[in-house]
Amino acid sequence: MHVIAIDDEFDAWRAAALDALAQNLAPESIDWRTSQAEPALFNETAALAPPKAADAPHIRVSRELASLLKDAAHFRDARRWSFLYRVLWRWAQGDRSVASPADEDGARLYKMAKAVRRAQHDMIAYVRFRQRDASLGAPEFVAWYEPDHDVLAWGAEHFAARMGRSTWLIATPDGAAMFDGERLRLERGRALASDHANVAPDAAEALWMTYYRSIFNPARLNESALEQHMPVRFWKGLPEGALIPKLVSDARGGARRVAQAQSVGALGGKAVQVDAREAQPERDAPTSLDTCRRCDLWRNATQAVRGAGPSDARIMLLGEQPGDQEDLKGEPFVGPAGQLLQDAMQRAGVAREQVYLTNAVKHFKWEPRGKRRLHKTPAQQEVEACSYWLEQELHDVGAKVIVTLGATALAALLGRRATLSAHVGRVVPYLDKLVVATYHPSYALRQNDEAARERTVAAIVAALELASSLKA
Ligand code: URA
Repeated sequence: MHVIAIDDEFDAWRAAALDALAQNLAPESIDWRTSQAEPALFNETAALAPPKAADAPHIRVSRELASLLKDAAHFRDARRWSFLYRVLWRWAQGDRSVASPADEDGARLYKMAKAVRRAQHDMIAYVRFRQRDASLGAPEFVAWYEPDHDVLAWGAEHFAARMGRSTWLIATPDGAAMFDGERLRLERGRALASDHANVAPDAAEALWMTYYRSIFNPARLNESALEQHMPVRFWKGLPEGALIPKLVSDARGGARRVAQAQSVGALGGKAVQVDAREAQPERDAPTSLDTCRRCDLWRNATQAVRGAGPSDARIMLLGEQPGDQEDLKGEPFVGPAGQLLQDAMQRAGVAREQVYLTNAVKHFKWEPRGKRRLHKTPAQQEVEACSYWLEQELHDVGAKVIVTLGATALAALLGRRATLSAHVGRVVPYLDKLVVATYHPSYALRQNDEAARERTVAAIVAALELASSLKA
């Protein structure tokens, strides 16, 4: 096995990949390792640096493949360098199908490049600058942004070309870009990021919030269109994002009907006789989960996240607690762990529409880290307090097979002596149900080693297959 260590950026990979091709090294014989460039203060941006291997051998690739490789290189995935080398290797062997979306590698390459282009578009759309107090000096404007992929250098160039000579800084969780009016610089690492981004809202922002509130029309609220135009994961970086959950929940809780009634009332029209009982507006079934105070987690959560899925589902998937995105959206498993779970379900042939997804704890427990909200494992008391709701769901849904995802979910059902290591992959009876224990998808996401991650995902897939084969 050849170990190739590179800086985590395209030009370094390209130079090393060309060398490896020249030595005829097959993809499976290379272990690509990366190191982040030293986080020196305001180095020249890495993306602008010239390629290192000026005298490296050249192979000719199509213009399209070159741009796919370049874009896909910004996809956040530790395995991308070995994958890109496999693509390049196949091309160098004369296998042109690798650049086609009909090929498995080609399809993955297109998907990665598309996601990165989407992240570039998002960065332009969702970066919001705040003006700093002039007495603080440069930078005049700062923004905090959490890109899905490594597009900071690209986005910074976009803003540098459009913001004249004003000085600004864009901070992200893993680096910052600064423009001093003339030159663009990039710093990798967290050092400055959140300090610079912590700027109080400026006057323009207060005006913008007032405006946003006034143009938000609850009568015309279409939640899926809203989320399509402004995905939930960007809300926390946008000033108006802080308003949306409340505006939406007010709309759901009656403001929509009031506004609709007002606009319908304003139309006039002819009077018709109706039975007073039938004229009652349709109301959501009352539930007290929204007002649950059985533990303190409600205090810092946006909302309680109830389970979702058909009420006669045969399989229930039980997670730990909602994450950041679930808390904002009010639905379980819509964030990165949900995506991984969705992929696993697909592999196992289990349709999401046929399972009931829920969590042992219904409020998001978190702690602040800079501008981010980091997941915190719920305490035993919180799990116990919330079992009140879980028991209702177990009764109402009547699922016969419960797949517990992770240790908290397992302990919520079988008690805290039930350890994951002793139960993983096993079927255990519980009341009139069967419980299949497996890992939590976030555990797979946390694994940097590709093989270990795949083993965890495969175990989740196997548990889902097992659950769907059980006739409880
Ligand atoms: N993790 C969970 O356990 N549940 C969710 O809904 C999301 C992430």
